[in-house]
Amino acid sequence: MPFQDCPVQQRNLEKAWNTKVIDRTGLILEIFGERAQTKEGKIQVELAALEYQRSRLVRSWTHLERQRGGAGFMGGPGERQIELDRRIIGEKIVRLKKDLEDVRRTRDLARKSRERVPYPVVALVGYTNAGKSTLFNRITGAKVFAKDLLFATLDPTMRKVKSEDKALAFILSDTVGFIADLPTHLVAAFRATLEQVQYADVILHVRDMAQEDTKEQRQDVIDIMDQLGINYDTDERIIEVWNKVDLLDDTSRSDLLRQAKFNEKVAAVSAVTGEGVDNLLALIEGHLTRSWQVVSFSLPPTDGKALAWLYSHGKVLSRKDNKKSVRVSVEIEPANIERFTDRFGYKENIM
Ligand code: GTP
Repeated sequence: MPFQDCPVQQRNLEKAWNTKVIDRTGLILEIFGERAQTKEGKIQVELAALEYQRSRLVRSWTHLERQRGGAGFMGGPGERQIELDRRIIGEKIVRLKKDLEDVRRTRDLARKSRERVPYPVVALVGYTNAGKSTLFNRITGAKVFAKDLLFATLDPTMRKVKSEDKALAFILSDTVGFIADLPTHLVAAFRATLEQVQYADVILHVRDMAQEDTKEQRQDVIDIMDQLGINYDTDERIIEVWNKVDLLDDTSRSDLLRQAKFNEKVAAVSAVTGEGVDNLLALIEGHLTRSWQVVSFSLPPTDGKALAWLYSHGKVLSRKDNKKSVRVSVEIEPANIERFTDRFGYKENIM
């Protein structure tokens, strides 16, 4: 019998080795439990853990029953205990499902308030050990705003990042790693930990290119994304990050770098050495500013506030200072054009 189906064997091993033994499902649940950030994610993981406990309960008691030889229509002590345990777990499950519904309602509110925050979200996904956290730290380490309380309290795996020229800011969000053959009863819990991916503006799929089975891992990720309703081939938000290029031999390395160079949906990097990370940031920026427009405004030279606003919300492409006016041509998000006109009252110049 495979170990993961046998709680009794697990207990025997624990006794023999004098240490805690957990099976694959238990291990996955521990990791999910640690990494689930949202309240919903936590409840989903707890629910999965209870369902798992309930299924093992029956099997472990059935075994005990057989050992004791206590079968028969009257039922033995084991049977009564199963009923009791099962009822307690069942009640907990009902309660959690209700909590889940409540949380989902408030989550929608939370999401709505998030939507009002004018920062796009860039989500990291990928196989376990692909290097997501290392890349997260590399990107945020140098650029993170330590005093960004709004997000610091929101979630430790979300950080605000600003581009070099300060024209663009986004939230970088790390997620739990994918694993092969995820047991089906854990899919809901896993999905809950990936919630932010579904509404991300850019999805960075981090791949460990030094792994022999990197192609199979990629396919697994594609399959899971598919279950999340994300079509990998047509979804324009996806950038593949070919990580760990520092570990490759010269031939495969130059081969990969060449392929990545000609593919605008791919960036080859090493999260450890930092190689290629600037290029990745430029790609992200390109994705996030695709819908930006170039507009021009003429402002009186005395209106420093309006000018400063344009510099901090857009990319100033050119500026001409005259005695009577400053003419600025700026690349900016359409929503910000509206905000600017509403706030300062200037209309854009028709070019
Ligand atoms: P999970 O949290 O399990 O999902 O893993 P992860 O994707 O966050 O991977 P993590 O960043 O923890 O990296 C896994 C291992 O790979 C660590 O030992 C890293 O030091 C190593 N690693 C990550 N990126 C690189 C890289 O570019 N080059 C090399 N040589 N090692 C790397």
